[in-house]
Amino acid sequence: MNPSLLTAPPSSRPCPLVSFPPFGLTPNSLPRRRRYRVSFPRNSISTDDQSPMSTSSTETTATTPTAPDIFGGPKELTGIQPVVEKLSPPLRVATSVVILAGALAAGYGIGLRLGGNRNAALGGAAILGAAGAAAAYAVNAAVPEVAAVSLHNYVAGCDGPEAVRKEDIENIAQKYGVSKQDDAFNLELCDLYSLFASSVLPSGSEDLRGDEVETIISFKNALGIDDPDAASMHMEIGRRIFRQRLETGDRDGDLEQRRAFQKLIYVSTLVFGDASNFLLPWKRVFKVTDAQVEIAIRDNAKQLYASKLSSVGRDVDVKLLVSLREAQLKYKLSDELAKDLLMEHKRKLVEENISVALNILKSRTRTVGGVKQAVEELDKILAFNDLLTSLSNHPDADHFARGVGPVSLVGGEYDSDRKMDDLKLLYRAYVTDSLSGGRMEKNKLTALSQLRNILGLGNKEAEAIILDVTSKVYQKRLSEVFQSGDLEMADSKAAFLQNLCEELHFDPQKASEIHEEIYRKKLQQCVADGELDEKDVAALLKVRVMLCIPQQTVDAAHSDICGSLFEKAVKDAIAAGVDGYDADVRKAVRKAAHGLRLTREAAMSIASKAVRKIFLNYVKRSRSAENRTESAKDLKKMIAFNTLVVTELVADIKGESSDTPTEEPVKEDVEKLYEDDEWESLQTLRKIRPNKELTAKMGKPGQTEITLKDDLSERDRMDLYKTYLLYCLTGEVTRIPFGAQITTKKDDSEYVFLNQLGGILGLTAKETVEVHRSLAEQAFRQQAEVILADGQLTKARVEQLNELQKNVGLPGPYAQKVIKSITTTKMAAAIETAIGQGRLNIKQIRELKEAGVDLDNMISESLRENLFKKTVDEIFSSGTGEFDEEEVYEKIPTDLKVNSQKAKGVVHDLARTRLSNSLIQAVSLLRQRNRQGVVSSLNDMLACDKAVPSETLSWEVPEELADIFGIYAKSNPAPEKLSRLQYLLGISDSVAAAVKEMGDGVLSAGAEEEKFGCDASVLLDDDDSSNFTGEKSAGPNANSLRGFEVIDAIKTQVESICPGVVSCADILAVTARDSVVALGGPSWTVQLGRRDSTTASFSNANTDLASPLMNLDELISLFSNKGFTAKEMVALSGAHTTGQARCLLFRNRIYNETNIDSAFAKSVQSNCPSAGGGDNLSALDVTSPVVFDNAYFKNLVNNKGLLHSDQQLFNGGSVDSQVTTYSNNPITFYADFGDAMVKMGNLSPLTGTNGEIRTNCRKVN
Ligand code: HEM
Repeated sequence: MNPSLLTAPPSSRPCPLVSFPPFGLTPNSLPRRRRYRVSFPRNSISTDDQSPMSTSSTETTATTPTAPDIFGGPKELTGIQPVVEKLSPPLRVATSVVILAGALAAGYGIGLRLGGNRNAALGGAAILGAAGAAAAYAVNAAVPEVAAVSLHNYVAGCDGPEAVRKEDIENIAQKYGVSKQDDAFNLELCDLYSLFASSVLPSGSEDLRGDEVETIISFKNALGIDDPDAASMHMEIGRRIFRQRLETGDRDGDLEQRRAFQKLIYVSTLVFGDASNFLLPWKRVFKVTDAQVEIAIRDNAKQLYASKLSSVGRDVDVKLLVSLREAQLKYKLSDELAKDLLMEHKRKLVEENISVALNILKSRTRTVGGVKQAVEELDKILAFNDLLTSLSNHPDADHFARGVGPVSLVGGEYDSDRKMDDLKLLYRAYVTDSLSGGRMEKNKLTALSQLRNILGLGNKEAEAIILDVTSKVYQKRLSEVFQSGDLEMADSKAAFLQNLCEELHFDPQKASEIHEEIYRKKLQQCVADGELDEKDVAALLKVRVMLCIPQQTVDAAHSDICGSLFEKAVKDAIAAGVDGYDADVRKAVRKAAHGLRLTREAAMSIASKAVRKIFLNYVKRSRSAENRTESAKDLKKMIAFNTLVVTELVADIKGESSDTPTEEPVKEDVEKLYEDDEWESLQTLRKIRPNKELTAKMGKPGQTEITLKDDLSERDRMDLYKTYLLYCLTGEVTRIPFGAQITTKKDDSEYVFLNQLGGILGLTAKETVEVHRSLAEQAFRQQAEVILADGQLTKARVEQLNELQKNVGLPGPYAQKVIKSITTTKMAAAIETAIGQGRLNIKQIRELKEAGVDLDNMISESLRENLFKKTVDEIFSSGTGEFDEEEVYEKIPTDLKVNSQKAKGVVHDLARTRLSNSLIQAVSLLRQRNRQGVVSSLNDMLACDKAVPSETLSWEVPEELADIFGIYAKSNPAPEKLSRLQYLLGISDSVAAAVKEMGDGVLSAGAEEEKFGCDASVLLDDDDSSNFTGEKSAGPNANSLRGFEVIDAIKTQVESICPGVVSCADILAVTARDSVVALGGPSWTVQLGRRDSTTASFSNANTDLASPLMNLDELISLFSNKGFTAKEMVALSGAHTTGQARCLLFRNRIYNETNIDSAFAKSVQSNCPSAGGGDNLSALDVTSPVVFDNAYFKNLVNNKGLLHSDQQLFNGGSVDSQVTTYSNNPITFYADFGDAMVKMGNLSPLTGTNGEIRTNCRKVN
């Protein structure tokens, strides 16, 4: 309850002042305290006997009560009240008149007597008249109070409040001539009502009885008190409860008063019905909320309805349900709550039955009768449920209490998992009872379904219980019909059983399961002694027929039950081991195999499973053994196990004598193979062949029916076989200390075991042969590789190999294959090397092919393509001028198995580059006066042109073209070649004719071919006296060449030891080489024997030396003039990895060129100003100036070449790749550099009698 209810001060609203007092008294003149005069009976809500509030009117004196003490007993009249009480209203008026008149007369008389005159008499009359009037007034004024007392005494004197009658009260009012609105009278009415209402309301802790509202209403009606007055009394009672709360203040009291207040609210609301909302201002006066009022009404209504329900039993009927509905409406209880209450009540009733039933079922001294009782309780529940269900369908159901309908335990004490077992117990009891007659009646089925719903059991759970119970009953019935012979007599067992199922509502499928179970049990009993005799078989057959058990089911049961028995026998036999397979074991196996009547397949399958498990154990051990010998030993144990145990076992299962040898399963197969000559040579294979002698010695062969074929992969099985085969071949290897080993050779009996192992492993003859062959091949190959180490197959070796083949026993074709594969591999390697080294050309290849060598597979495709390119290159440089299209485009590609399209591409590329090179070559040779060379070069050019026809070529110096044409013309060429050359060189007919005319004259000036070469001409000083100008002062050399004194010093020393022998030219060549070596560079062999020149060429030094300002093509051309290729030129330029250059020679580059690293340019600029300082030196290789390495090329790649001519070598031109190669590969550079230096040193040397050996390098002798 809202605490405000407890703290809010009660309103001071008085007892309703609906009536005005008589004699014109205003409401204000009413004593205010009256509103506190409301009295409460001692037995009502008052808990405090001594409370002044519990006393009746303070103005009445309590006398011995004649009526129940509610109203506090009769009141007595005081003062004039008894007089007034006796006067009837007309008499009271007459009395008043008499009194007044008497008083007037008396006054007049007294006045006259005392005053002696009339005035005095009048004065006396006036005085006494006034007094008389006062007395008359007093009489009248006492009337309502007297009436009130009279009213009180009437009510109090009645035999209980119900005896109070409305007419009596009206008579009292009439008697005193008062209306109910008279204050005192009304007050008494209020007082009485209040006392009564308080007495009716049960005290705080007590529940309402249900008749309170009616009682109060009828008393209210009897009193005739107005509703507003009555309602104000209810509010007053509320105030009082509040006050009591404040006074008591303890917790319990607080609770009680709260309850009392709730009851007051509830009862009051019902008493005043619709008007209660405005007659009873609970909210305003007590600050309670609507919800609190609602709760007060709801809780009390519930309580009343519940107490009404408490008397309702299982015998509900229409009347009762209607009365419940009426009560509900009267109590103002919602339908919903009413329904809940009724449901709960129903459940409680059911729970009572359940509890009784459970007590019976769970009791230790449970009897059959007890179960019956429990079932009766459940039947009561079902009956109750039926009744309620049918009532819920009654046509007048609308007028019934809410909540009629099926009962359920949901929400009650049995609605928990914990109680589920109890409910199942009950359900089971009911099912059992339903089936007690041996059949399931339809009505019971319905009942069971209802019971399941009531108990709240799941479908599955209920069905499981039914199935379980029914199964048992079915079994019982079966045994009855079995024993009684009913089943046996039935024409159709199936129909009989079907009928039984129907009677019990039992699933035929489940019945079949039971049948099977029965059969299995029977079977188990029968085989308890380890075998099935005829009697057993007959008994089992009877069961099978009677119960209509399918053969399949029977078979499965047999193989299952008998199988496991048999398995045990087999396992025992296996466990007996190699030594223990004696007569007893044999007997047991035989008994089990035959006595249990297992099919042979079933028995074998069981035995196979157990045996294979053991086999696999051996295999496992063998695999984990340390070495091959140990592995083989484990396999040998398995073989022994197979022979001594498994073979016996199989024979016993089959019922054969173990002495009759089992048939060799692979015999036929193997025999066929043996007949094949090819295998005859395989010695080891021959040895496993059944050999009568040996077989006799070794005893019977092992069984081969149980194998590991399906347990291990083919590869694994072959491996195991191989292990044992190797053991047979090599014998037992025993390791002894110090790393040595002893090998004990085995005799051929091992091969018999090997054969058996093959059987156990389930290897086919083919697989076995394969193992033998591969092993032989392996052995053959190993030794053949040694014999054929270099791939050469000589006659001696062939003999050696033949011998080997025989020893190993490998069939010929296999041996040949091995030999071929070895020689082929080796030869392929040899051929590749030869081609790589250029030792093999197309001619030789063709020869090899003709000799039947399969080159296509031996030489890789890329190598064949390279060879093609090389061949074509040779054609283009053969100097013949021939180009055979068919040969180049078809034959050679076919021979080399090169794609013809690819071949064409190669030829075209080569022809194009070769063509221009040939021209340059020709001009270069012209300059060297090498006539034959010129002709060859031009022929090469023509060959290229034949492959890819060219346009007319151009050359800076047309005269030189005319010169080479002239030389060619003189070489007796074929006319078509000459004319084609004329076209290519762009020579007009007239020039051609002229040149031809000139004949030898053209080159006559050069007949004395001037040759400049490595002849130390550069060392000669100028000699003014003889007017000799040497090369030192020539442009490229002046101020540049240095170090002559070093040569002088060497020469002096050499001359002192060996005068006149070593030329300056040789010294220069050697010095160049040794300087390079000294700086960490490569070395090369300098050919010696040069002689020194007696002259020098100032002009050639000027024209033939390269300039640092040259571009790439000029450099190439210049070097080419001396017979150097571009590649050689690049390699030689690598000399700039050491040395220095003068500022004036690279100034333009470092200030103006763009293909230069800016940081590098800047650093060089610091020592080479843009003007002046021309002789300042900078290193040609900025990174390692005094080391001979490949840093020069690395610099070029990074745009750090010092000279313009240097950077030309790496500036997007044709030799970039060469520079890159050298920058990445110093060794290549060193090799190329050395070669080029040798070539340079060999340029036109003076030998023989030409030139001289100078004494002083600076001048001729
Ligand atoms: C490719 C064309 C070549 C050109 C344009 C060229 C140009 C030059 C120039 C301008 C100098 C600096 C000279 C000076 O500052 O006075 C120089 C220095 C030098 N050149 Fe070459 N050169 C070329 C090829 C070669 C070759 C083939 C070699 C040797 C195999 C060579 C070895 C040297 C040496 C050793 C120096 C440094 C001399 C010293 O430090 O005193 N050069 N070259």
